[in-house]
Amino acid sequence: MTFPVRTERHDDVLVIISDSPPVNALGADVREGLKAGFEEGLNDASIKAIVLRCDGKTFFAGADITEFGKPPRGPGLHEVLDAMDKADKPIVAAIHGTALGGGCETALACHYRVAVPSAVLGTPEVKLGLLPGAGGTQRLPRLVGVKAALEMVAIGDPVPAKKAAEIGLVDRVVGEDSLEADAIAFAREQIGKPVPRISEKTATADPEAVEAFRKANARKMRGFDAPEANIRCVEAATDRPFAEGMKFEREEFMKLMMGTQSAAQRHLFFAERQAAKIDDIDPKTTTLRPINKVGVIGAGTMGGGISMNFLSAGIAVTIVEMQQDALDRGTGVMRKNYEASAAKGRIKPDAPDKAMGLLTPTLSLDDLADCDLIIEAVYENMDVKKELFGKLDKIAKPGAILASNTSYLNVDEIAASTSRPEDVVGMHFFSPANVMKLLEVVRGEKTAKDVLATVMALAKKIRKVAVVAGVTHGFIGNRMLSPRQQEANKLLMEGATPEQIDKVHVDFGMPMGPFQMADLAGVDIGWHRDPTRVESIRDALAAEGRWGQKKQAGFYDYDEKRNPTPSPRVAEIIEDFRSKSNMAKRDITDQEIVERTLYPMVNEGALILEEGKAQRASDVDVVWIYGYGWPVYRGGPMFWAKTEGYEKVVAGLEKHGFKVAQTLKDGTVK
Ligand code: 3HC
Repeated sequence: MTFPVRTERHDDVLVIISDSPPVNALGADVREGLKAGFEEGLNDASIKAIVLRCDGKTFFAGADITEFGKPPRGPGLHEVLDAMDKADKPIVAAIHGTALGGGCETALACHYRVAVPSAVLGTPEVKLGLLPGAGGTQRLPRLVGVKAALEMVAIGDPVPAKKAAEIGLVDRVVGEDSLEADAIAFAREQIGKPVPRISEKTATADPEAVEAFRKANARKMRGFDAPEANIRCVEAATDRPFAEGMKFEREEFMKLMMGTQSAAQRHLFFAERQAAKIDDIDPKTTTLRPINKVGVIGAGTMGGGISMNFLSAGIAVTIVEMQQDALDRGTGVMRKNYEASAAKGRIKPDAPDKAMGLLTPTLSLDDLADCDLIIEAVYENMDVKKELFGKLDKIAKPGAILASNTSYLNVDEIAASTSRPEDVVGMHFFSPANVMKLLEVVRGEKTAKDVLATVMALAKKIRKVAVVAGVTHGFIGNRMLSPRQQEANKLLMEGATPEQIDKVHVDFGMPMGPFQMADLAGVDIGWHRDPTRVESIRDALAAEGRWGQKKQAGFYDYDEKRNPTPSPRVAEIIEDFRSKSNMAKRDITDQEIVERTLYPMVNEGALILEEGKAQRASDVDVVWIYGYGWPVYRGGPMFWAKTEGYEKVVAGLEKHGFKVAQTLKDGTVK
């Protein structure tokens, strides 16, 4: 066969093998090959059973997402799976790697499934704003019941082989290194038995489980269309025959596929992978620097969180503080965080000891001499950082990468305080650094290509999504935050309330609005600390000790459980400021808030791109989704601007007197 699918005979068992790197996606050629392979096996009377497996690192990882939205080619997946389902010879899926989406559905169309212990099975389509549209929503409830099916389709997390066997998704867990032989043996055991078809089973309705699922996941699913569509399909599996359920699934799938949300979520899938690529660096010809030991300076919230990333990935960390009590406090918090995760079952019981065993706390910078990468997470002050980098220059071994966790400062200036600016890079983690997925990797003017490539590869190892940013105040994320905050402050003076502005942002899908964020981060951050110098509403709040959640008072009043309520005192402060500035109060519409707080972010993103401080518009989207909670279903600010329409965004910006980025005006943002 010319397709990426071949067959091999083992006496009376035919093994059909797909070999379509990198992930055996079920593209047209693979489907064509499968169709031909099954025809061969079913038409040959000497073949009594069929095994389906894949070469390479994984069983089918799903439909080929690059085909979505393009004219159909070759046989459809439904057609292939339908023929498999109806086959009168037992078909066994032999699974390794990740059987995901259409891949999992292909396994479900087989009559049996065997898997190696390291395999995982899942239907992550919901994360692409879709549902398993090749029978997954109809077969899963019939096989594993409504409760387990809901978790799989509407949350989308994969299930490891052992758990899959427990819920009935996998028939047998086989040897890690003997998948094919074990699958053939298993297939032979089934010859002569009636062929079990999931499509012929019934799924029992479980309205209580559905309601409990909706309730338990309401927050996670807020704003997304796909989870509810998945739930509807699972319900359909319980109240109508298979063929009708398949029809319903198809209709729901097509609705999602045509919608903006799925387009946004698919955009993010590719954006995230694209972000890892550096335009002028060829990963094949770039030798990475080995990173076996990391130094972290600062054991505060940031330094501790940063260290945990490496420890969790099995990389040794030396952590430095100036005072013993601060060092003890920092490492104590890290241990407590690990233990809390273990108690919740998120990590293995021995993981805290394992991770903490890789940590060397010290009071001496000299102990960083053997580190391959040193990250400073100290006070955000240029003089402090320059002095520190000057010291590191003398201590660090040749070839060590020197990184700053600065969130705003000029990395070139920091690099200039060393004799090796080519080894200096920014690694901007987001708080809490052990949880947040984003890492902005700041490329200085002189940063060496292999340094950048090493840090990007390391980011993947510690499970971060890394984006390259150029040297500019606040890099990508914080630079875009700045015009939003300025406008939000002006809107307060003109008549909007903190709660109105925040509500617009939360309704848009952000986890919180600008003032809720200020209260969480601390109203006193960046404050000049002189209570007599009151030049802004924020100064007035800080002067009164309204420092945010930590003081139970900021832009909102908080109860002991940190529940916010609008603050009459803040309303007075705003009123006072307004009258002193002789400003008239007017009604502000929600649309104006969108135009003045969200559109300027898009504008700033376009300016960043024009200045070459981000590689591509989709990188800006990745930053805002993974670093600041921009709603995934809106695809990030730059993708959203496209769906709003550039003309509308430009008109909105011009109406409010903003200087608009040229590429936004021309519709050429890239
Ligand atoms: N279609 C097309 N390309 C895919 C793909 C897919 N389903 N899955 C992965 N790829 C591509 C990636 O874009 C990447 O391409 P690149 O090298 O050019 O950037 C390459 O394969 C390797 O992918 P990763 O970098 O993600 O490799 P990892 O080893 O880190 O992860 C994976 C492998 C776990 C399989 C991960 O790629 C993944 O989660 N893939 C998507 C799985 C998925 O969502 N499947 C459902 C698809 S929708 C569907 O099946 C609809 C059906 O119900 C009808």
